[in-house]
Amino acid sequence: MTYGETYGDSTRSLKAIAAEHVPGDPVGPVPVPAAAYHLGADEDDALDSYGRRHNPTWRQLESALATLEGAAAAVAFGSGMAAITSVLRAVTEPGSTLVVPADGYYQVRAYATEYLAPRGVTVVQATCAQMCEAARDADVVLAETPSNPGLDVVDLHRLAMQCRPRGALLLVDNTTATPLGQQPLALGADLVVASATKALSGHHDLLAGYVAGNRADVIERLQRERLLAGPILGAFEAWLVLRGLGTLGLRFERQCQNAAAVAMMLRSHPAVTAVRYPGLPDDPSHAIATRQMRRFGGIVSVELADADAVHDLVRRSALLVGATSFGGVHTSVDRRARWGDPVSPGFARISCGIEDTDDLLADIDSALAGAGR
Ligand SMILES: Cc1ncc(COP(=O)(O)O)c(C=O)c1O
Repeated sequence: MTYGETYGDSTRSLKAIAAEHVPGDPVGPVPVPAAAYHLGADEDDALDSYGRRHNPTWRQLESALATLEGAAAAVAFGSGMAAITSVLRAVTEPGSTLVVPADGYYQVRAYATEYLAPRGVTVVQATCAQMCEAARDADVVLAETPSNPGLDVVDLHRLAMQCRPRGALLLVDNTTATPLGQQPLALGADLVVASATKALSGHHDLLAGYVAGNRADVIERLQRERLLAGPILGAFEAWLVLRGLGTLGLRFERQCQNAAAVAMMLRSHPAVTAVRYPGLPDDPSHAIATRQMRRFGGIVSVELADADAVHDLVRRSALLVGATSFGGVHTSVDRRARWGDPVSPGFARISCGIEDTDDLLADIDSALAGAGR
């Protein structure tokens, strides 16, 4: 039996950050904020030497992330974008064909078209529904599932079956699902990329990202990329992510519970014209999501009448926070058209926090009262 099959999610998260039981040592993780380390006369390259190359707090975080993702190794970065752009630079070259999500996080496709395409990479944009077809001619495929913000789902097993025989590399952005909601490597992905800024750290107070996987060659290239390009994670942020992992199981359980309840309530609300949540039985992605996800996540997407309706929802609420980003302990609402996402003006992404479910339902219902009735 492999690690994780015997434990529940909270236990898995806690075990992932557990230090060895050494009498006199702190029980929790300890940050090591060092730029320079004492050098010995033996000039051993494996020893910690400089803060852009090594950090003991990164190592502890990377080991925890690798454990949670079911990976041999992970490499931590200073943000999700630092992780994603580093891996895309490491695995593409002039002449490569790269597929990126057309309906996923918008700055990823901006990077691919503004930075990689002018350097000779053919960039193909595909929606979740088009991914498998687009992967036929690709060297590298980056899928994001559930997609941000539309919450569409890519069939990862089918996509992996498309990529693997041709030797195409499959990267999966696991930010919205988290490793407690979905295990892309077990479904056939080569690498997981993710922002740890969101539910993983969970408090809206830091940026972090990582790449995890079993491809030792790519992991080594990424460590080199991080050393040379320098998109490192601060030791203090690495420590905060580790600290946050201790409560990930509890937080994510409540966020998923709140999201399911909010989605159920909103789907029959007169002020709401559409709801997407992969956990809703009649959601177009529900069948695939049920096959590949362990939990359906903490985000719900809704369409209200117009931009004002979204602003009114936040203004009238006592609990909702108007903010971009997602996965934090507070429920937050983001009108995505303001960032240029291809959605209607009244489209809002609701990221459920850890408030008591009944309080959240009552608050949203009262904030929507009058609208659309
Ligand atoms: C799905 C997804 N991937 C990657 C990122 C980038 O992460 P970061 O903001 O930590 O750079 C985001 C940010 O919102 C995201 O939503």
